Amino acid sequence: MTKHKQISATASWESPSNLAIVKYWGKHGLQEPLNPSISFSLAAAVTRTRVSTRPSDQPGFSFRLNGAEKAGFNEKIATFLERVHSHLPFLQHHFLQIDSCNTFPHSSGIASSASSMSALALCLTQLHLLHSDKEETAMDSVLASTLARMGSGSAARSVYGGWTLWGRYPGKKESSDMYALPLEEAEIDPDFRSLHNSILLIDPGQKAVSSTAGHALMNHHPYREARVEQAQKNTERLLAILKAGEWDDFFELAENEALSLHGLMMSSTPSYTLLHPNSLEAIHRIRRARREHGLPIGFSMDAGPNIHLLYPAHENKKIRTWMQEELQPLCADKAILHDQVGTGPRALTSNQALDE
Ligand code: PMV
Repeated sequence: MTKHKQISATASWESPSNLAIVKYWGKHGLQEPLNPSISFSLAAAVTRTRVSTRPSDQPGFSFRLNGAEKAGFNEKIATFLERVHSHLPFLQHHFLQIDSCNTFPHSSGIASSASSMSALALCLTQLHLLHSDKEETAMDSVLASTLARMGSGSAARSVYGGWTLWGRYPGKKESSDMYALPLEEAEIDPDFRSLHNSILLIDPGQKAVSSTAGHALMNHHPYREARVEQAQKNTERLLAILKAGEWDDFFELAENEALSLHGLMMSSTPSYTLLHPNSLEAIHRIRRARREHGLPIGFSMDAGPNIHLLYPAHENKKIRTWMQEELQPLCADKAILHDQVGTGPRALTSNQALDE
């Protein structure tokens, strides 16, 4: 193991959640994906995390969410720290104080694992650099993405802004199952660099089946091989669509991926669904408005009942009005979170409060 300094140090990072258009579903080894996935980072849905180290013979951590101790998260963080231990020698001789807050409500049904695990991974990567004897202190995004993956697979993609690819894909030889790669600006049409995403909070309740359990059901899934093949083809197609700026093809692919994900859940053994009647009603209304009124809208979904409405930034005004009339009544407490493609993580200065 490389040498490390026993010092007190602090790192603070803000990191976004992301939405996958080609979905990661199913894994092996230490959170290695069955298939490649492509996502974009969000701008408004972010986690801010500060990690302070102090030398100690009894390494460990204490975690606070929004200023209050949250024992419910301790097991997840402990598992994560065990997984990353061999990459971060300073963990052997330091105690960590971890403070975190989310800009979006914790139990809103928005996955906070991508933003929270990537924010934590970025802090730990910076601390690793501060504690090591090397001169180099620039952020090592490959290490941050590798560590984030070990916390939550989809978090690997959140260490970058814009569009990101994670998972080995033959068309890109730098791609890896271990970490994500940012897609270059030249690979994405400007329309998709400013894509808008409004998140319809259909049912903010706790998920009946966790993503971890859902991934595990892919191990013996009858459609496993076909799914891997479908995701590989959709990765190739989406890369071409993003470059060409083709909205119709984009909506068709995003919806096919979202419904395939939910189809895999329904055809698992045991079978389950996370769809809510209002999720289906929203899908119906979105498709009807596109077909009958030519509205440039489509949707994606995560492993939950919420609908992510996707549309071009320049149609924002018209679509917001339609959304209020047609989709808002389908949301719990009429809640919609408006978001868009974001620029990615940023380091916070030591005097920036976490909840600013
Ligand atoms: O990162 P996890 O283990 O919570 O898995 C997330 C999987 C999906 O959100 C459903 C798809 C994806 O690629 O983000």
